[in-house]
Amino acid sequence: MNVFSTRVPADRRPSELARAAARARARGPVLDLTGTNPTRAGITYPPDLLDDLSHPAALTYRPTPLGLPDAREAIAEDYARRGIHVEADRIVLTTSTSEAYSILFKLLGEPGRSDVLTPVPSYPLFDHLTRLDGVVQRRYALEYHGAWTVDTESLDRAWTPDTRAVLAVSPNNPTGSVVGDADAAELARRCHDRQAALILDEVFCDYPLGAPFVEPRAFVEPPCLLCRLGGLSKSIGLPQAKLGWIALDGPPDVVAEALDRLELVCDTYLSVSTPVQIAARSLLKRGAVVRAQILDRVRANDAALRAIVSGAGGATVLPAEGGWSAVIRVPATRSEEVLVTELLELDAVVVHPGYFFDFPHEAFLVVSLLPEPDEFATGIRLVQDRLHAA
Ligand SMILES: Cc1ncc(COP(=O)(O)O)c(C=O)c1O
Repeated sequence: MNVFSTRVPADRRPSELARAAARARARGPVLDLTGTNPTRAGITYPPDLLDDLSHPAALTYRPTPLGLPDAREAIAEDYARRGIHVEADRIVLTTSTSEAYSILFKLLGEPGRSDVLTPVPSYPLFDHLTRLDGVVQRRYALEYHGAWTVDTESLDRAWTPDTRAVLAVSPNNPTGSVVGDADAAELARRCHDRQAALILDEVFCDYPLGAPFVEPRAFVEPPCLLCRLGGLSKSIGLPQAKLGWIALDGPPDVVAEALDRLELVCDTYLSVSTPVQIAARSLLKRGAVVRAQILDRVRANDAALRAIVSGAGGATVLPAEGGWSAVIRVPATRSEEVLVTELLELDAVVVHPGYFFDFPHEAFLVVSLLPEPDEFATGIRLVQDRLHAA
């Protein structure tokens, strides 16, 4: 008897690569160039950073579906730091960005029927996030021609009458590309004309690797429902605090109805803890020192990566504008799987293969820019040596 839903895949075995990584870890220390947990990357957190989680105000429970006003105001002020105007009453608190996706899919999708368009290459969790909420994922391509832009033909091919939302990730994980003016206009116009929402995942927006990001014009006064996603997990390196948010913008009547409907969704779960809402303002203020260290770290590792790789062994680092990851294009003389397995078994270095992020062809490696600098540089040199040994 099968009592289980197909939302959870029948085959849940770890991949061969995940098993090889587990074996390498069991053999001894590895240089892990895939780590994205900021709390285990040698970043110094102020010891009293979480003090306000035990503020006495948190002893009183006042269920507030969209979130406590002070937390929403503090997040609106944080948008102002980025030069973006968002009204506090258009901000909805969630426990994480992942939960924000789940809430939005409930808001927008007809169970089992509606589809959402997701970019490739991008964040692999979209497979589970869509499937678990009963919406169909359809992919549109980002194409690389010295920079990554939306392949609008593939976007139009993916679009169906049942498309309710388009996802864009800016800066994108793992390409580090940001949505520019032209792509923002194409996405927003289509979403307006075809009555879909635009979900903009900005979790890495505080991490420009070069020049500061410029806000695309189409996102300033969006013609469609625009749902910006953010959260403490990346903005101040506190994934365990479990606070994310959705900031709504677009035509006022659509925003008002979305908020009204979201109130029902959020009231059903009331998932965001009171202590983190009480502490949100101080976390956002005091967490700035963590953000600054992470920014220094990803910039330093990005510079080291480009200095070490710099074309030798036929490898190149693709240009990136922001985020916590980097993409290395390597000669396709052996498959990504073979190269990544060799790195694991011969060098005890863990990297991601491009196919993990659905790159359209081989061969790419993806590394996190978060590891400690010495570890990162040593690991990248071993990657470089392994490419030479081909
Ligand atoms: C693009 C992107 N969105 C969302 C998340 C998840 O963020 P959260 O911890 O807020 O769920 C990640 C995590 O790596 C990510 O890469």
